[in-house]
Amino acid sequence: MRLARPAEASSIANLSRELIEYGLRWRWTPTRVAASIRAPDVNVLVACVRGNIVGFAIMRYGDDEAHLDLLAVAPPYRRAGVGRQLLQWLEKCAVVAGIFRIALEVRAENEGAQAFYQRMGYRPLVQLSGYYQGIEAALRMGRDLSRRSVEHGVEGTLAKLLGPDFYHQTFFLDAARSLNIRI
Ligand SMILES: CC(C)(COP(=O)(O)OP(=O)(O)OC[C@H]1O[C@@H](n2cnc3c(N)ncnc32)[C@H](O)[C@@H]1OP(=O)(O)O)[C@@H](O)C(=O)NCCC(=O)NCCS
Repeated sequence: MRLARPAEASSIANLSRELIEYGLRWRWTPTRVAASIRAPDVNVLVACVRGNIVGFAIMRYGDDEAHLDLLAVAPPYRRAGVGRQLLQWLEKCAVVAGIFRIALEVRAENEGAQAFYQRMGYRPLVQLSGYYQGIEAALRMGRDLSRRSVEHGVEGTLAKLLGPDFYHQTFFLDAARSLNIRI
């Protein structure tokens, strides 16, 4: 798993057209993906097997909230934890940047992806009719990363006992360590 290179914009855009934007006008063109790769507030992440891109994800980081623009894994590589790893990598970057809210939109009919996001801790927020070019509705989903403490075992219990600062500090350090950032 690594950040995408500018030369990979076309491959990523083609995957988006095929796996995510099917039946819609192609919006994530090579030009747009290339702009995301260059943008300082966006991470374009790829998962590769033997040099081929088998999955990718794009997350935009704002001041208080990050937005997952795209995420897809090629069919032969699904249900092997690739989507989970891509998403968790991008979430950790958000935490390191002090951003705890993540939002995304998913096609209303895409029940598989919705189940995946639910499994990853995202909750449905609102249904947006006609969101995709007036053709299809979207379900907006979101996750508050700072709430992880309440939901997860021993760490959650410690956080409740010691207060939210403890939790944020340990989660921050954990995220920084896994991204090889020295603090
Ligand atoms: C959604 C998607 C990215 C998931 O990627 P993935 O690599 O298969 O997901 P993971 O293997 O990391 O799944 C983690 C967990 O999520 C859940 N999950 C994943 N896909 C699921 C599905 N289709 N149905 C139900 N649950 C699912 C499972 O609990 C899974 O764990 P398990 O396999 O141990 O049961 C992938 O199916 C995909 O690319 N879909 C097409 C594009 C798309 O819809 N993108 C999202 C909207 S932009």
